[in-house]
Amino acid sequence: MKILVTGGAGFIGSAVVRAAIRDGHEVINLDNLTYAANLANVAQVSNAPGYVFEQVDIKDAAKLDDIFQRHQPDAVMHLAAESHVDRSIDGPSDFIATNITGTYTLLEAARNYWVSVGKPEGFRFHHVSTDEVFGSLGPEGMFTEDTPYDPRSPYSASKAASDHLARAWGETYGLPVVLSNCSNNYGPFHFPEKLIPVVILNALHGKPIPVYGDGKNVRDWLFVEDHATALLTVLTKGELGRSYNIGGNAEAENIELVRTICALLDERRPMNAPHADLITFVEDRPGHDRRYAIDATRIRDELGWEPSVTVEEGLARTVDWYLQNEDWWRPLLERDGVGDRLGTKA
Ligand SMILES: NC(=O)c1ccc[n+]([C@@H]2O[C@H](COP(=O)([O-])OP(=O)(O)OC[C@H]3O[C@@H](n4cnc5c(N)ncnc54)[C@H](O)[C@@H]3O)[C@@H](O)[C@H]2O)c1
Repeated sequence: MKILVTGGAGFIGSAVVRAAIRDGHEVINLDNLTYAANLANVAQVSNAPGYVFEQVDIKDAAKLDDIFQRHQPDAVMHLAAESHVDRSIDGPSDFIATNITGTYTLLEAARNYWVSVGKPEGFRFHHVSTDEVFGSLGPEGMFTEDTPYDPRSPYSASKAASDHLARAWGETYGLPVVLSNCSNNYGPFHFPEKLIPVVILNALHGKPIPVYGDGKNVRDWLFVEDHATALLTVLTKGELGRSYNIGGNAEAENIELVRTICALLDERRPMNAPHADLITFVEDRPGHDRRYAIDATRIRDELGWEPSVTVEEGLARTVDWYLQNEDWWRPLLERDGVGDRLGTKA
């Protein structure tokens, strides 16, 4: 299959690109290379036959038309987005422009192309989204695909809007759409402004490890390579018009997760133990959702996908990867806003 992957120089998109090439697909990696992008994430496949990179903004309709006509993809996997909640609090405008207007522009380009080639039945537009669209849970319950949308941050509201657009293009124009909503990802190539790389890198540098609020916010954690496999499963086996929740069956309080990472570093860098002494509670994120939990029964029962990496194994692999890949993360620490406390301008 020839797949147009948007956002393929980002964290999850690059895992999808690497997995798709490994599985024998052709890939057009479309990304405009924002601060969050890094072509080093796809270096291991960039010389593979069937891999092409295109630096294009998903808001640029004319360029998108050209890409579709030149490459004639069989499917689109749409991951390009502004993705950091804290940045969405300080500056929502890029989130509205990319996640909503950009998704609209891409849907229209995909529709124009799909019509121009005779509406092939096998064409797919896979919209990749987040569990954050469902809002915040109390101590009990889980998000299913039927949970009403209740986004609470500019980021999650913009993703909810793009989910609605993708569904509407399926219902109104017949575009063959599938959707997925996933929990928090972690793993290699995670940009160093997100919680897990921040914890690892601050601990390594002997810097305070910031934990928001009381640290008891709960997230479900999924190893990024498992997410990539799930996404390719949804693309190739998912039922048209259907959405699939994807999760790791691995709920943890932020503080538990941080302590686990500190313990992994204590084993690997004992001279600086105990790293947990660096934990510092800081003012909470405004509107911080308390708990997310994913019921991933549908994707397991209907498509046969389950996570393969436990959170214990995935965290150990992630810590080892950061210890071995300083050349990858060191230059990213210089990028705009990295290392700063963001998301306070509410
Ligand atoms: N990170 C998570 O835990 C998580 C969980 C569930 C869903 N998601 C969703 O998965 C997708 C990927 O997330 P991620 O964590 O890899 O994000 P990321 O920020 O690491 O990567 C996003 C990529 O999109 C590109 N991009 C941004 N704006 C663009 C534009 N206008 N045109 C073209 N490319 C553009 C960036 O350059 C970057 O390479 C997003 O849609 C996100 O909402 C993320």
